[in-house]
Amino acid sequence: GQRTMSSKPSVYVTRPDVDASGLELLRKSCNVSTWKEALPVPREVLLREVVGKDALYCALTDKIDVAVLDAAGSQLKCVSTISVGYEHIDVEECRKRGIRVGFTPDVLTDATAELTLALLLATNRRLFEASKQVYNGGWKSWAPMWMCGQGLKGSRVGLLGFGRIGQEIAARIFPFKPAEITYTTRTARPQEAAAVNGRHVDFDEMLRNSDFIVACCALTPETKEIFNAEAFNKMKPNCIFINTARGGVVDQKALHEALASKRILAAGLDVTTPEPLPLDDPLLKLDNVVILPHIGSADIETRKEMSRITARNILAALTGAKMEAEVSV
Ligand code: DGY
Repeated sequence: GQRTMSSKPSVYVTRPDVDASGLELLRKSCNVSTWKEALPVPREVLLREVVGKDALYCALTDKIDVAVLDAAGSQLKCVSTISVGYEHIDVEECRKRGIRVGFTPDVLTDATAELTLALLLATNRRLFEASKQVYNGGWKSWAPMWMCGQGLKGSRVGLLGFGRIGQEIAARIFPFKPAEITYTTRTARPQEAAAVNGRHVDFDEMLRNSDFIVACCALTPETKEIFNAEAFNKMKPNCIFINTARGGVVDQKALHEALASKRILAAGLDVTTPEPLPLDDPLLKLDNVVILPHIGSADIETRKEMSRITARNILAALTGAKMEAEVSV
């Protein structure tokens, strides 16, 4: 792990498949080594490769825990993730060791809000279900009540989480003329909610009154499986549940049960447990669910900039400068 005064800092990158612009930034002043495949680095390789590194460029597919930090050694100064979520990093342990943690908020807010609207519209207007009929012969004729959905207009929408992404989701739902947008957070945010006439409600009220429920919160011990059987049982039978946060906020067995029994109308999921979802997962047998492979922020320019922010966070941390986006604990 020791290096001489003249040598460059060393960085290990777990994803060689990030946009090259981020890696180029790093290569200017660091020795960069990367995992070789466009798939998550195997745990044992990570534990071996991180040894002696000054910084780690990682993604949400890597678990950065005590074992990884121990393996790295005390010279590790920064863990930088190409994501806004950082539940895969033991940030408390990083804080104790003086390791700075970088992430990529803001840049992906609009892309993620956009994808959330796409899921809302795909589920409420039954886009995938209807499209299938074009190919399988189910489309016999225009029919007055065929493939009807439930519009956002006049509906009650409840958001769990009203941070950067939640606010942008609300701003995009608002023009669809819902009856009301409500949000559930620990503390009310009246100023941020004013633009959409958003009303702060408790979780129970949100569950009982919403036609659409959107999970757009961080995964924390508090939100882990907050959407459980009890929660789904409180929802209206016409409720459509959308999750663009993390699969972990849902008890997925309970969600399957709620969808299969028509206890709720439909679901749109960009995140699942696990990811990828096994091909024999029972959720894939249902007509009333749309599942996407975690593409919330997958907008080309967004992902390019995420790759650069992750690099710039490392460069700042290595020189003791202010990071563009640092997780504060
Ligand atoms: C994140 O950033 O946390 C998303 O899940 C991936 O962009």
